[in-house]
Amino acid sequence: MNNDNDPLVEFPHTPVMVGEVMRYLRPLPGQIVLDCTVGNGGHASKIMNCIGSGGLLLGIDKDMDILQIAKQNLTKIGGRFKLFQSNYTDFDEVLRLAGVDKVNGVLLDLGVSSLQFDRAERGFSFSKDGLLDMRMDQSDGITARELIQQCDEEELAGILWKYGEERRSRRIARAIILAEQKGGIVTTGQLASVVESVVPRGKMKMHPATRVFQALRIAVNNELENLKKFLEVIHQYMAVGGRIVVINFHSLEDRIVKDSFREKAHQGIFTLLTKRPLIPNDDEIVKNIRCRSAKLRAAERI
Ligand SMILES: C[S@@+](CC[C@H](N)C(=O)[O-])C[C@H]1O[C@@H](n2cnc3c(N)ncnc32)[C@H](O)[C@@H]1O
Repeated sequence: MNNDNDPLVEFPHTPVMVGEVMRYLRPLPGQIVLDCTVGNGGHASKIMNCIGSGGLLLGIDKDMDILQIAKQNLTKIGGRFKLFQSNYTDFDEVLRLAGVDKVNGVLLDLGVSSLQFDRAERGFSFSKDGLLDMRMDQSDGITARELIQQCDEEELAGILWKYGEERRSRRIARAIILAEQKGGIVTTGQLASVVESVVPRGKMKMHPATRVFQALRIAVNNELENLKKFLEVIHQYMAVGGRIVVINFHSLEDRIVKDSFREKAHQGIFTLLTKRPLIPNDDEIVKNIRCRSAKLRAAERI
């Protein structure tokens, strides 16, 4: 078989913690499920198998390229689905367009998809040299390069500290601003080299630019604000007994999910299904190294 032009083969995305997602989301025949970060449709395919032809899967993603892949994948399953290019914070508009008042399940699988990460031109990765973009929706907002250009040293250090929890934020911000003044940082490789020039690798397992890339990506895509905004209101659109599952990839997101679920449990809106976050088992980490920092939390609408 010739797979040369198949984007799925070029950038396969293995869905994270599928067994746990299905156990906690518990999609049943005929139900309506909202997948807010549908990506390649990995989780969504499994959900569609459970809700069957009487159910409806609503999938949202910011990224137009990925939605095309999701469409190919979900069409193979054969049930009912509708896909929307949107920010998941605008999910109420998606429900209105789909003619749906309440959903039985909500999934958020945060972070970057393999397609975004592996395509050098999307600018997410320091190991693949490409223009410093990092926007999940390339039709909207400013690129990471523009963000750097708009910041002074103090603002940039603030971003690295707040979103990357980077201890050397000031030193790195100074080097980045200096390099920007000297000729500009155009590519991911250039940014990684600037960081490495002031934070040598030493015995670190992690690339010294890891936290810098995380921080810029979170800032460019407004990730934490989106998550907070969404969690504040989603319960109003969940049927009683409906379930929400969130997979996050770093402590800043996990804190937001934990605090929001606890507050709603306190208010009698949610029952917590996971007292502590679930994490992938060792087998899954060996097979899919990208899932190593995943944490899953789930709750049920009372
Ligand atoms: C880890 S991937 C999801 C993978 C998916 N669960 C699967 O199994 O294929 C995360 C996806 O969320 C999307 N995304 C991130 N933030 C978003 C937002 N605020 N609104 C809509 N989509 C978003 C990204 O574009 C990316 O495709």
